[in-house]
Amino acid sequence: MADISVIAGPSSPDLAAGIARRLGADLISTELRIFSDGESKVRLDRPAGKKCVLVQSTHPPTDSNLMQAMMIARKCADDGAKVCAVMPYLAYARQDRAFLEGEGVSAALVARLLEASGVNAIVTVDIHSQMALSYFKNARNVSSIPLLAEHASKMKLKKPLVVSPDAGGADRAEEFARLLKADAVALKKSRDRKTGEVSIEKINFDVSGRDAILVDDMISSGGSIVKAAEVLRKAGAGNVYAMCAHALLVGDAAQRIMASGVKDIVATNSIPGRYAKVDMSAPLADAARSAL
Ligand code: R5P
Repeated sequence: MADISVIAGPSSPDLAAGIARRLGADLISTELRIFSDGESKVRLDRPAGKKCVLVQSTHPPTDSNLMQAMMIARKCADDGAKVCAVMPYLAYARQDRAFLEGEGVSAALVARLLEASGVNAIVTVDIHSQMALSYFKNARNVSSIPLLAEHASKMKLKKPLVVSPDAGGADRAEEFARLLKADAVALKKSRDRKTGEVSIEKINFDVSGRDAILVDDMISSGGSIVKAAEVLRKAGAGNVYAMCAHALLVGDAAQRIMASGVKDIVATNSIPGRYAKVDMSAPLADAARSAL
C-alpha cells in the first residue's frame, strides 16, 4: 500500500517497521532532539503521504512521548494528511473517571488533545477500559489475548490455570482460558486509592501442582503481580508466569516480580523491552488499514 506512510515515532521504531512491512508501506523515520529544558523537537526524515500511520506508544517518559505524538500528528495534518495514530499503550487510560473529589477525567482530555492535534483515528491495544475508549470519536481497540494465548499454548504448561489478579480482568482471563482450553479464575484485589498499595485475598480454590498464568492488561509497578504470585505460590501452585499486553515494568518491577516466584514475564511489543516477546504488528497493521 504505497499510498500509506508509516511514521516511526521515537518511542516505537521497531513496531513501526513491522507495521510498515505488513502494510507494504513507506517507512518514515523521525529524528528527536530533547532540549535542556526537556522540550522535544521532532523532525520527519522526508515528507509523508496523504495517509499517515503514526506509531508511538506512550510509555515513560509518558508526557514526552504523548507530546511527540501530537507534534507529529499536527505536522502531518498541516500537510493535508489523514492521520491514524497507533498508540498501543495509551497513557492516562486508567484515569477514565474522577475517583476522588477534585480530580479531572484525564483520559477524556488526552482524547481531545489528540483529536485537536489532527488525529482522525486511533488504534490501541487492550485499552484499560471501554470508558477510556469511549472518549474518542474514532477508535479501535486491538486485543492482545489471541496472540498471548497462542504463545502460552507453546509453553508446555502443566494443567494450566489462567488467573486475573482482580475482578476487573475476569473477562480477559476467561477469554484467554477459552483459547488455551484451560480454566480461569479471578482473584480479589483491592488498592488504596491514595497510597496505591495493593492487597489480594487468600484463595479458596485448589491450585496445587498446577501452573498459573497471571494475565493482566499492564504491569506497571508490579505490585498487583507480586501480590498475586505470592498468594498463588503459598497455595501450592507450580510454575507461575505473568503475561500482559503492556510491560511498563517501572523501576525494579521486573526484579521484584521474579523475586516473588514468577518464572517468566511475557508481554507484547506494545512497549519495547526485554519481555516484549509477542509481536502485535499484524493485527495493528490490519486495524490501521481499516481506519484509513
Ligand atoms: C488495574 O486495574 C490494571 O489492570 C493493572 O492490574 C494495574 O494497572 C497494574 O499496575 P501495577 O503493576 O502497578 O500493580
